[in-house]
Amino acid sequence: MLKGRSLIEPGDFSLEETEALFDLAEKIEADENHLRESCRGRLLATLFFEPSTRTRLSFEAAMLRLGGNCLGFADPGSSSASKGESLADTVRMAASYADVIVMRSPKEGAALLASRYSGVPVLNAGDGGHHHPTQTLTDLLTIRRLRGEIRDLTVGFCGDLKFGRTVHSLAKALAGYKNVRVVCVSPEELVIPEYIAMALKKRNVEFVETRNLEEAMPELDVLYMTRVQKERFFNEEDYIRLKDAFVLNAEKMALGKSDLVVLHPLPRVNEIAVEVDSDPRAAYFKQAKYGMYARMALLSSVLGVA
Ligand code: NCD
Repeated sequence: MLKGRSLIEPGDFSLEETEALFDLAEKIEADENHLRESCRGRLLATLFFEPSTRTRLSFEAAMLRLGGNCLGFADPGSSSASKGESLADTVRMAASYADVIVMRSPKEGAALLASRYSGVPVLNAGDGGHHHPTQTLTDLLTIRRLRGEIRDLTVGFCGDLKFGRTVHSLAKALAGYKNVRVVCVSPEELVIPEYIAMALKKRNVEFVETRNLEEAMPELDVLYMTRVQKERFFNEEDYIRLKDAFVLNAEKMALGKSDLVVLHPLPRVNEIAVEVDSDPRAAYFKQAKYGMYARMALLSSVLGVA
């Protein structure tokens, strides 16, 4: 039962609970009326201390489609955080107004801290360069919908694997599935953090690191591209030097399998050339849509109305 539960990191929900969420998301996708008014009278608070387009809008769309309502802020400058209010106090307030909280913060651990002060479920929509578990639900649901099952896959992660929180969460979650291999493609300076590499090794996930996307392309079933996370760099020079380290274009796509699935959490900057968008293997816009169904399933489950 997910009723009343927070989601801070992948692993907070068991594999069975996650699969049940995906079953529900697929039901909602197939039948627009499923759970349509189930959240009538319920409120979602969206506390976004960092910019967002898809995550916030898809959570809001999800809640509105379930018949509920939303309140919140998209800019910390317009909240009392700018007056020096602590996160604990902001969250206590939000929890007394709303039935569920979605929050994004530039600080690692912020969502966990918030969940300790909240009487209602807290859903982590990104805490700094740490985790982003609802993006992972989106990513896994997309893989399941496009590949049928999440197993027997070679998944390539490419780009900023150091700061990319979506990579950390997805890699950790994939370790729970059968026969998944992980190929990490990044510049030396942006390799995946040790704690994620350890988590993969602990679950016996075959895991390789390379600096060469062309070489990795032919073996991949899923390619997860990511943006270099400018906002987490300490100096602009490093960002400029690394930002275009890997660019997926038609030439590289030609090296990939015919049933490759290309994912990207978005926003894209330069790392996928626009020419790739028309390739049927490019699934990143579909992925954004599955995110809404995943969040509808999540909200109705933690609110106990599913
Ligand atoms: C990601 C994020 O915020 O971590 N975006 C998203 O939620 N879809 C990825 C990114 O910003 O690069």
